[in-house]
Amino acid sequence: MIRSLKGTYDILPDESWRWQALEAQLHDFMSIYGYKEIRTPAFEKTELFSRGVGEETDIVSKEMYTWLDGGKTNLTLKPELTAPVVRAYIQHNLGALSPVTKLYYMDALFRRERPQKGRQRQFHQFGVEALGTPFPEADAEVIAIAYEFMVSLGITNLKLKLNSIGSGQCRDSYKDALKEYLSPHVQELSETSRLRFETNPLRILDTKIEHEIVLLVKAPDILDFLTEEDETHFSEVRELLDGMKIPYVLDKRMVRGLDYYTRTTFEITSSALGSQDALCGGGRYDKLVETLGGKSTPAVGFAAGVERLLIALDEIGKTEEPSKTDIYFVGLGDQARKAGIKLVHDLRKQGYKSNYDLVRRSMKAQMREANKSGARILLILGDQELENNQIQIKDLENSQQMTINLDELKNHLYKLEL
Ligand code: HAM
Repeated sequence: MIRSLKGTYDILPDESWRWQALEAQLHDFMSIYGYKEIRTPAFEKTELFSRGVGEETDIVSKEMYTWLDGGKTNLTLKPELTAPVVRAYIQHNLGALSPVTKLYYMDALFRRERPQKGRQRQFHQFGVEALGTPFPEADAEVIAIAYEFMVSLGITNLKLKLNSIGSGQCRDSYKDALKEYLSPHVQELSETSRLRFETNPLRILDTKIEHEIVLLVKAPDILDFLTEEDETHFSEVRELLDGMKIPYVLDKRMVRGLDYYTRTTFEITSSALGSQDALCGGGRYDKLVETLGGKSTPAVGFAAGVERLLIALDEIGKTEEPSKTDIYFVGLGDQARKAGIKLVHDLRKQGYKSNYDLVRRSMKAQMREANKSGARILLILGDQELENNQIQIKDLENSQQMTINLDELKNHLYKLEL
């Protein structure tokens, strides 16, 4: 038997309705904020990610599904969406259409990570990218979208963590200061952190190892390295969030795992999740468009893990499936069954969610199926009723049952306001 691959999952019918509900809510929500959807291909040139996300990041250095296509071109299944969106923004000159381009997406992504609860090798993200403005208003809007969308889904225990990692130049001085602070302790660091010490020291701040966390308590503070402009930007972002009554905590150790960030970075976590507690992450990336060959264009965005949102909703018990069927038809006898097929066809054309038995089962089995379907209305037709041009209708909400003329069925159903 061929089975699905490690870290990949089928979304089965008893769960797909939750995805549909979330997607429908997302589209409505984003139109309220004036964002338009963008869809990009599943694979891109590998270079887009190595240049965009950064060679030294975990994603690029160890997690990408990459192959040499036709022995010639290096391609990669997309591990994130910011770089592809920026590629499309440059390629189609979207910036020419309006000063700010506000985009959102929901898509499948691929990272070769160690699978665990809330961490898959194929997973889904929804996210937004606002390109074309350097102003803190955009940071605040993007953060507000992330936070309020989760609130609107009903996820509780949210924690919004906020930081600024400054612009490039101050970050370089900070990296030097951090290395200087850590250099007498290099031997105490884990293998990963020792490697990061050489390649990407900022990422050491992300450590989950207890003795490294203790060691970092006295490390230099990135906020002390911000330029005056960076500081003003950050305090304006905070002021705007305060005005919108969006609660946050400052987390000076939150640097994020992708190289393109400048200034604001943020994450939202939920205690409803286990160790993979980040529901979303994002921030400003003022240099990425330029890095990928476009005109200098400041931008900010975030992405949220859809599986993690669904786990968080699960934990708080928000999993009631809406009724799949309004009407279930039960037929007794050959003629009644055939007439029922025609009847259900007409009802469906009128928009009623209607169903009937496709395997010619007994009346008892059909009734059982009807109950399972969650239908409110049961239509029962026997050959005798058919001859009299009648049908039995039972409202399962109040158990009322009556026989009506078949020609009156439409009116009757209309009055029931299904
Ligand atoms: P990221 O932090 O790599 O950022 O991913 C964002 C979110 O995707 C995470 O917070 C998590 O919820 C989810 N996620 C990531 N990896 C996995 C996985 N293996 N399994 C399940 N869920 C996962 C980015 O991808 C940036 N592109 C976000 C961004 C957009 N920044 C600016 N614009």
